Amino acid sequence: MALNVVIMAAGKGTRMRSATPKVLHQLGGRSLLQHVLDTVAVLGTTRTVLVTGHGAEQVEASASSGTKLGITCVRQMPQLGTGHAVQQAAPALSEAATTLILNGDVPLIRPATARALADACGGQHLALLTVTLTDATGYGRIVRNAATGTVSAIIEHKDASNEQREIREVYTGMMAAPTALLKRWVAALRNDNVQQEYYLTDIVAMAVAEGVAVVTASAGSDTEVLGVNSPAQLADLERRFQRQQADQLLDVGTRLADPARFDLRGHLHCGQDVEIDVNCVFEGTVRLGDRVRIGANCVIRNAELGDDVVIHPMTHIDGDTAGVKVGAGSLIGPFARLRPGATLGREVHIGNFVEVKNASLADGAKANHLAYLGDASVGERVNFGAGSITANYDGANKHRTVIGNDVHVGSNCVLIAPITLGDGATIGGGSTIAKDAPEGQLTVARARQISLKGWQRPVKTKR
Ligand code: UD1
Ligand code: MG
Repeated sequence: MALNVVIMAAGKGTRMRSATPKVLHQLGGRSLLQHVLDTVAVLGTTRTVLVTGHGAEQVEASASSGTKLGITCVRQMPQLGTGHAVQQAAPALSEAATTLILNGDVPLIRPATARALADACGGQHLALLTVTLTDATGYGRIVRNAATGTVSAIIEHKDASNEQREIREVYTGMMAAPTALLKRWVAALRNDNVQQEYYLTDIVAMAVAEGVAVVTASAGSDTEVLGVNSPAQLADLERRFQRQQADQLLDVGTRLADPARFDLRGHLHCGQDVEIDVNCVFEGTVRLGDRVRIGANCVIRNAELGDDVVIHPMTHIDGDTAGVKVGAGSLIGPFARLRPGATLGREVHIGNFVEVKNASLADGAKANHLAYLGDASVGERVNFGAGSITANYDGANKHRTVIGNDVHVGSNCVLIAPITLGDGATIGGGSTIAKDAPEGQLTVARARQISLKGWQRPVKTKR
């Protein structure tokens, strides 16, 4: 079925008390609007029209960079109500199609529900998405004919009588209509109501007057139709969204210590028998192999961890654009930091307060405590001592450190790049190494130790 989608996103969002346009606030790592665009993308839409107003430039820029859909943006200045918003969109809508109206601030509408709403319209009826709420304050009420049960009007809360305010069935703000009729109806709207706005909801009475059937579809859950108007509502919806994602992971066998203390802001792919302790945050795209264990309080972004990897608590992994790869059986943390371009082989150990950036460590390499490895290629089974660093930056340029296989770097060494340590080299603790170290030898670069016979400690002079 050919489908136009109108996304209304011109409202100010005063109650967010934010300089950011409301629909650009983040939910699960994506803007509210991006959630709606992602849903529209799976609907197979003919035309998508985005109505912008407050923060229009920012909203339009974000929408066009965030989707492959060809979006037509129309500006609504000033904002005179939802009916006025659709009036602005009307010229861009293709008449042969059904028009589905969505809200930029209702992010969790599911594609199946949106499609069911469009199907209920069927190119001839006016279809409303409704939900029954225990507290309907603020919503437009669905008024039904007492005898037939058919919908006769939507009455906005502010315009409703006390009796009408008792109605619990409300309009969710989403509808589907035959486009030619929709265009004609919105053109005829008037603003003689309490808010002096052009209410889109007034087209219901017009449809009834013309004998066009008004049908309803219901949402699968409240969560799908909840809008965001305030930070409190945003936080509530965030927890609901996170719970949905946590439940999906539990369903495929991932063991979350506490689904209420889990945050995914992107995509997480888990192998079999993965265990994730409390308070972990996953961002971007993260892939975990089989039997991976993640300790408490880890933040992991854009990374791929092989089978049997153990991430101890308080570890921060950020692959950014270059990514991070951790080979099978490696042990990372606690308190470790893997930065973009960290590429670890199998059974690598990275311990507390070790930072790895743009560096590869081959199978079995270890840096267990207090170290910095940046712009380095580290061979197999290398042991990197506590407090040792690759000095990769001369103040202007970055240089590489190349460490062969089976090298032992003692504690508190500075390796001044560019530099190469040959296979099997040993670097004495406390060395500052500025020249290449040959393979198989002990290289030490520090003042020779001396002891002074007969030396006396100074004593305090008496006055
Ligand atoms: C609207 C419905 C109400 C429904 C409720 C559900 C109308 C008249 N009322 O009320 O029946 O129960 O949604 O949440 O439609 N917008 C514009 N331009 C405008 C005004 C609004 O683009 O001039 C956009 C907003 O950004 C928002 C959406 O339309 O995305 C809904 O506007 P909002 O002001 O929240 O409508 P409500 O008064 O809540
Ligand atoms: Mg609203």
